[in-house]
Amino acid sequence: MSKVTVVGAGNVGATCANVLAFKKIADEVIMLDVKEGVAEGKAMDMNQTAQLLEFSSRIKGVTNDYAATANSDVVVITSGIPRKPGMTREELIGVNAGIVKSVAENILKYSPNAILVIISNPMDTMTYLASKVTGLSKHRIVGMGGALDSSRFKYYLSEALGVNPTEVEGMVIGGHGDTTMIPVARLATYKGIPVSDLLSKEALDKVVADTMVGGATLTGLLGTSAWYAPGAAGAAVVESIIHDQKKVVPCCVSLEGEYGQNDICIGVPVVLGKNGWEKIIDLKLTAEEKEKFEASAAAVRKTNNVLNEINAI
Ligand code: LAC
Repeated sequence: MSKVTVVGAGNVGATCANVLAFKKIADEVIMLDVKEGVAEGKAMDMNQTAQLLEFSSRIKGVTNDYAATANSDVVVITSGIPRKPGMTREELIGVNAGIVKSVAENILKYSPNAILVIISNPMDTMTYLASKVTGLSKHRIVGMGGALDSSRFKYYLSEALGVNPTEVEGMVIGGHGDTTMIPVARLATYKGIPVSDLLSKEALDKVVADTMVGGATLTGLLGTSAWYAPGAAGAAVVESIIHDQKKVVPCCVSLEGEYGQNDICIGVPVVLGKNGWEKIIDLKLTAEEKEKFEASAAAVRKTNNVLNEINAI
Protein backbone atom coordinates (compact mmCIF):
# COMPACT_ATOMS: atom_id res chain seq x y z
CA MET A 1 0.00 0.00 0.00
CA SER A 2 1.50 3.30 -1.03
CA LYS A 3 0.48 6.51 0.69
CA VAL A 4 1.14 10.02 -0.57
CA THR A 5 0.22 13.27 1.17
CA VAL A 6 -0.25 16.51 -0.71
CA VAL A 7 -0.06 19.55 1.54
CA GLY A 8 -2.08 22.44 0.16
CA ALA A 9 -5.38 21.72 -1.59
CA GLY A 10 -5.23 24.80 -3.80
CA ASN A 11 -5.17 24.50 -7.58
CA VAL A 12 -1.70 22.91 -7.78
CA GLY A 13 -2.13 20.56 -4.81
CA ALA A 14 -5.59 19.41 -5.87
CA THR A 15 -4.44 18.81 -9.45
CA CYS A 16 -1.48 16.82 -8.18
CA ALA A 17 -3.72 14.71 -5.92
CA ASN A 18 -6.15 14.16 -8.79
CA VAL A 19 -3.39 12.93 -11.12
CA LEU A 20 -1.96 10.70 -8.37
CA ALA A 21 -5.35 8.99 -8.03
CA PHE A 22 -6.42 9.02 -11.67
CA LYS A 23 -3.12 7.52 -12.85
CA LYS A 24 -3.21 5.03 -9.96
CA ILE A 25 0.18 6.24 -8.78
CA ALA A 26 -0.71 5.93 -5.07
CA ASP A 27 -3.25 3.70 -3.30
CA GLU A 28 -4.03 6.33 -0.72
CA VAL A 29 -3.80 10.09 -1.20
CA ILE A 30 -4.21 12.50 1.70
CA MET A 31 -4.84 16.15 0.92
CA LEU A 32 -4.26 18.58 3.79
CA ASP A 33 -5.16 22.24 3.81
CA VAL A 34 -5.50 25.02 6.38
CA LYS A 35 -8.88 26.17 5.07
CA GLU A 36 -11.72 24.31 6.77
CA GLY A 37 -13.60 22.00 4.41
CA VAL A 38 -11.64 22.72 1.21
CA ALA A 39 -9.51 19.56 1.16
CA GLU A 40 -12.46 17.48 2.37
CA GLY A 41 -14.70 18.87 -0.38
CA LYS A 42 -12.18 18.47 -3.18
CA ALA A 43 -11.37 14.91 -2.03
CA MET A 44 -15.06 14.00 -2.01
CA ASP A 45 -15.50 15.48 -5.50
CA MET A 46 -12.49 13.48 -6.79
CA ASN A 47 -13.66 10.26 -5.14
CA GLN A 48 -16.92 10.66 -7.02
CA THR A 49 -14.97 10.41 -10.30
CA ALA A 50 -13.50 7.00 -9.36
CA GLN A 51 -16.20 5.00 -11.15
CA LEU A 52 -16.13 7.31 -14.19
CA LEU A 53 -12.35 7.31 -14.53
CA GLU A 54 -11.90 3.75 -13.29
CA PHE A 55 -9.48 4.11 -10.41
CA SER A 56 -9.60 2.59 -6.97
CA SER A 57 -7.18 4.93 -5.16
CA ARG A 58 -8.82 6.63 -2.18
CA ILE A 59 -8.43 10.34 -1.57
CA LYS A 60 -9.00 11.81 1.88
CA GLY A 61 -9.12 15.51 2.65
CA VAL A 62 -8.27 16.90 6.09
CA THR A 63 -8.01 20.33 7.71
CA ASN A 64 -4.64 20.70 9.43
CA ASP A 65 -4.85 17.13 10.77
CA TYR A 66 -1.25 15.98 10.40
CA ALA A 67 -1.99 12.72 12.25
CA ALA A 68 -3.98 11.64 9.16
CA THR A 69 -0.81 11.96 7.07
CA ALA A 70 1.12 9.47 9.24
CA ASN A 71 3.45 7.04 7.49
CA SER A 72 3.27 8.66 4.08
CA ASP A 73 5.89 7.38 1.65
CA VAL A 74 6.09 10.69 -0.20
CA VAL A 75 4.82 14.14 0.79
CA VAL A 76 4.30 16.87 -1.79
CA ILE A 77 4.43 20.41 -0.38
CA THR A 78 2.53 22.98 -2.42
CA SER A 79 1.57 25.31 0.44
CA GLY A 80 1.96 29.05 0.25
CA ILE A 81 0.66 31.89 -1.84
CA PRO A 82 0.84 31.78 -5.66
CA ARG A 83 2.12 34.68 -7.72
CA LYS A 84 -0.07 37.35 -9.26
CA PRO A 85 0.51 38.84 -12.73
CA GLY A 86 3.74 40.86 -12.80
CA MET A 87 5.14 39.19 -9.67
CA THR A 88 8.26 37.06 -9.73
CA ARG A 89 8.40 33.73 -7.90
CA GLU A 90 11.14 35.26 -5.72
CA GLU A 91 8.77 37.89 -4.30
CA LEU A 92 6.83 35.16 -2.48
CA ILE A 93 9.70 34.23 -0.20
CA GLY A 94 8.71 36.19 2.93
CA VAL A 95 5.30 34.57 3.28
CA ASN A 96 6.10 31.13 1.92
CA ALA A 97 9.30 30.48 3.91
CA GLY A 98 7.43 30.41 7.24
CA ILE A 99 4.69 28.20 5.81
CA VAL A 100 7.03 25.66 4.19
CA LYS A 101 9.18 25.44 7.31
CA SER A 102 6.25 24.69 9.61
CA VAL A 103 4.67 22.24 7.14
CA ALA A 104 7.94 20.29 6.77
CA GLU A 105 8.37 20.08 10.54
CA ASN A 106 4.78 18.91 11.11
CA ILE A 107 4.96 16.34 8.34
CA LEU A 108 8.14 14.74 9.66
CA LYS A 109 6.62 14.29 13.13
CA TYR A 110 4.21 11.77 11.58
CA SER A 111 6.15 10.52 8.55
CA PRO A 112 9.80 10.48 9.64
CA ASN A 113 10.81 8.39 6.63
CA ALA A 114 8.97 10.34 3.94
CA ILE A 115 10.58 11.75 0.83
CA LEU A 116 9.63 15.41 0.37
CA VAL A 117 8.73 16.85 -3.03
CA ILE A 118 8.75 20.65 -2.97
CA ILE A 119 6.56 22.70 -5.29
CA SER A 120 6.06 25.93 -3.28
CA ASN A 121 7.74 28.99 -4.75
CA PRO A 122 10.38 30.28 -4.99
CA MET A 123 10.92 26.56 -5.51
CA ASP A 124 14.75 26.42 -5.45
CA THR A 125 14.90 28.44 -2.25
CA MET A 126 12.03 26.52 -0.62
CA THR A 127 13.87 23.26 -1.41
CA TYR A 128 17.04 24.69 0.15
CA LEU A 129 15.04 25.84 3.18
CA ALA A 130 13.49 22.37 3.60
CA SER A 131 16.92 20.78 3.46
CA LYS A 132 18.33 23.22 6.04
CA VAL A 133 15.47 23.08 8.55
CA THR A 134 14.82 19.33 8.42
CA GLY A 135 18.41 18.10 8.27
CA LEU A 136 17.18 15.13 6.21
CA SER A 137 19.50 13.17 3.94
CA LYS A 138 19.88 15.21 0.75
CA HIS A 139 18.42 12.36 -1.30
CA ARG A 140 15.04 12.76 0.39
CA ILE A 141 14.39 16.34 -0.72
CA VAL A 142 13.42 16.95 -4.33
CA GLY A 143 12.20 20.22 -5.87
CA MET A 144 10.02 19.60 -8.91
CA GLY A 145 10.78 22.75 -10.98
CA GLY A 146 12.84 21.13 -13.74
CA ALA A 147 10.17 18.49 -14.33
CA LEU A 148 7.66 21.25 -15.03
CA ASP A 149 9.98 23.46 -17.07
CA SER A 150 11.15 20.49 -19.16
CA SER A 151 7.54 19.56 -19.87
CA ARG A 152 6.87 23.11 -21.06
CA PHE A 153 10.06 23.01 -23.16
CA LYS A 154 8.93 19.78 -24.82
CA TYR A 155 5.48 21.25 -25.45
CA TYR A 156 6.90 24.36 -27.16
CA LEU A 157 9.32 22.17 -29.15
CA SER A 158 6.50 19.89 -30.29
CA GLU A 159 4.46 22.91 -31.38
CA ALA A 160 7.36 24.37 -33.35
CA LEU A 161 8.08 20.98 -34.96
CA GLY A 162 4.42 20.08 -35.43
CA VAL A 163 4.95 16.65 -33.85
CA ASN A 164 3.69 14.44 -31.05
CA PRO A 165 4.95 15.94 -27.74
CA THR A 166 5.62 12.48 -26.28
CA GLU A 167 8.27 11.91 -28.96
CA VAL A 168 10.32 14.95 -28.05
CA GLU A 169 13.14 14.92 -25.50
CA GLY A 170 14.47 18.01 -23.79
CA MET A 171 15.76 19.17 -20.44
CA VAL A 172 15.67 22.42 -18.53
CA ILE A 173 18.31 22.80 -15.84
CA GLY A 174 19.29 25.62 -13.46
CA GLY A 175 16.90 27.62 -11.31
CA HIS A 176 13.11 27.65 -11.70
CA GLY A 177 12.96 31.38 -12.44
CA ASP A 178 11.98 33.38 -15.53
CA THR A 179 15.59 34.43 -16.08
CA THR A 180 17.43 31.60 -14.32
CA MET A 181 16.18 28.47 -16.08
CA ILE A 182 18.29 26.98 -18.85
CA PRO A 183 16.52 24.99 -21.59
CA VAL A 184 19.40 22.93 -22.99
CA ALA A 185 18.51 23.28 -26.68
CA ARG A 186 21.73 21.57 -27.80
CA LEU A 187 20.63 18.27 -26.26
CA ALA A 188 16.96 18.39 -27.29
CA THR A 189 15.90 15.73 -29.80
CA TYR A 190 12.96 14.47 -31.83
CA LYS A 191 13.23 10.67 -32.16
CA GLY A 192 16.96 10.97 -31.57
CA ILE A 193 17.42 13.73 -34.18
CA PRO A 194 18.88 16.95 -32.73
CA VAL A 195 16.15 19.59 -32.95
CA SER A 196 18.78 22.03 -34.21
CA ASP A 197 18.77 19.95 -37.45
CA LEU A 198 15.02 20.46 -37.77
CA LEU A 199 14.37 24.03 -36.61
CA SER A 200 15.94 27.34 -37.64
CA LYS A 201 18.02 29.17 -35.07
CA GLU A 202 15.26 31.80 -34.78
CA ALA A 203 12.58 29.17 -34.18
CA LEU A 204 14.70 27.40 -31.57
CA ASP A 205 15.57 30.69 -29.83
CA LYS A 206 11.84 31.45 -29.64
CA VAL A 207 11.12 28.02 -28.09
CA VAL A 208 13.78 28.70 -25.45
CA ALA A 209 12.45 32.21 -24.71
CA ASP A 210 8.83 30.99 -24.52
CA THR A 211 9.84 28.17 -22.17
CA MET A 212 11.62 30.54 -19.82
CA VAL A 213 8.58 32.74 -19.39
CA GLY A 214 6.15 29.80 -19.60
CA GLY A 215 4.90 30.27 -16.04
CA ALA A 216 4.72 34.07 -16.32
CA THR A 217 2.71 33.83 -19.56
CA LEU A 218 0.16 31.65 -17.81
CA THR A 219 0.06 33.89 -14.75
CA GLY A 220 -0.74 36.80 -17.09
CA LEU A 221 -3.59 34.87 -18.71
CA LEU A 222 -5.02 33.31 -15.55
CA GLY A 223 -4.44 36.06 -12.98
CA THR A 224 -2.70 33.49 -10.76
CA SER A 225 -0.11 30.72 -11.12
CA ALA A 226 -0.76 27.80 -13.45
CA TRP A 227 -1.80 24.45 -11.97
CA TYR A 228 -2.38 21.67 -14.51
CA ALA A 229 1.25 21.25 -15.56
CA PRO A 230 2.71 22.08 -12.11
CA GLY A 231 0.39 19.53 -10.46
CA ALA A 232 1.08 16.88 -13.09
CA ALA A 233 4.83 17.51 -12.87
CA GLY A 234 4.67 16.94 -9.10
CA ALA A 235 2.76 13.70 -9.67
CA ALA A 236 5.30 12.53 -12.28
CA VAL A 237 8.12 13.06 -9.78
CA VAL A 238 6.16 11.09 -7.16
CA GLU A 239 5.48 8.30 -9.66
CA SER A 240 9.13 7.69 -10.47
CA ILE A 241 9.96 7.68 -6.74
CA ILE A 242 7.12 5.52 -5.48
CA HIS A 243 7.32 2.97 -8.31
CA ASP A 244 11.11 3.03 -8.27
CA GLN A 245 11.09 3.81 -11.99
CA LYS A 246 14.62 5.26 -12.09
CA LYS A 247 13.51 7.90 -14.58
CA VAL A 248 15.89 10.74 -15.35
CA VAL A 249 14.11 13.99 -14.53
CA PRO A 250 15.64 17.43 -14.05
CA CYS A 251 14.89 18.31 -10.42
CA CYS A 252 16.13 20.74 -7.82
CA VAL A 253 18.53 18.94 -5.49
CA SER A 254 21.32 19.74 -3.08
CA LEU A 255 24.70 19.91 -4.83
CA GLU A 256 27.97 19.04 -3.15
CA GLY A 257 30.53 19.83 -5.80
CA GLU A 258 28.51 18.58 -8.79
CA TYR A 259 28.30 21.14 -11.58
CA GLY A 260 30.92 23.10 -9.64
CA GLN A 261 28.40 24.10 -6.94
CA ASN A 262 28.09 23.70 -3.18
CA ASP A 263 25.53 24.69 -0.54
CA ILE A 264 22.71 25.21 -3.03
CA CYS A 265 19.63 23.40 -4.33
CA ILE A 266 19.23 23.85 -8.09
CA GLY A 267 17.96 21.94 -11.11
CA VAL A 268 20.08 19.17 -12.63
CA PRO A 269 19.08 15.83 -14.18
CA VAL A 270 18.69 13.15 -11.51
CA VAL A 271 17.60 9.52 -11.38
CA LEU A 272 14.40 9.26 -9.30
CA GLY A 273 13.74 6.01 -7.45
CA LYS A 274 12.56 4.61 -4.13
CA ASN A 275 15.31 6.43 -2.23
CA GLY A 276 14.37 9.83 -3.62
CA TRP A 277 16.93 11.25 -6.01
CA GLU A 278 19.53 8.55 -6.32
CA LYS A 279 22.11 9.88 -8.72
CA ILE A 280 23.01 13.10 -10.50
CA ILE A 281 23.63 12.89 -14.25
CA ASP A 282 26.69 14.96 -15.05
CA LEU A 283 26.02 16.72 -18.36
CA LYS A 284 29.12 17.84 -20.20
CA LEU A 285 28.15 21.48 -20.55
CA THR A 286 29.74 23.78 -23.11
CA ALA A 287 31.54 26.90 -21.88
CA GLU A 288 28.47 28.99 -22.69
CA GLU A 289 26.09 26.62 -20.87
CA LYS A 290 28.45 26.54 -17.88
CA GLU A 291 28.44 30.31 -17.75
CA LYS A 292 24.63 30.31 -17.77
CA PHE A 293 24.55 27.69 -15.02
CA GLU A 294 26.88 29.78 -12.88
CA ALA A 295 24.77 32.90 -13.39
CA SER A 296 21.66 30.89 -12.54
CA ALA A 297 23.27 29.56 -9.36
CA ALA A 298 24.32 33.10 -8.38
CA ALA A 299 20.72 34.29 -8.75
CA VAL A 300 19.34 31.36 -6.71
CA ARG A 301 21.97 32.00 -4.04
CA LYS A 302 20.90 35.65 -3.84
CA THR A 303 17.33 34.55 -3.10
CA ASN A 304 18.59 31.96 -0.61
CA ASN A 305 20.42 34.75 1.23
CA VAL A 306 17.06 36.35 1.98
CA LEU A 307 16.32 33.32 4.20
CA ASN A 308 19.11 34.49 6.49
CA GLU A 309 17.92 38.09 6.40
CA ILE A 310 14.42 37.08 7.50
CA ASN A 311 15.81 34.58 10.06
CA ALA A 312 14.11 31.62 8.40
CA ILE A 313 17.22 29.44 8.72
C1 LAC B 1 4.81 27.89 -12.66
C2 LAC B 1 4.79 28.06 -11.17
C3 LAC B 1 3.98 27.01 -10.48
O1 LAC B 1 5.91 27.86 -13.22
O2 LAC B 1 6.07 28.16 -10.65
O3 LAC B 1 3.73 27.79 -13.25
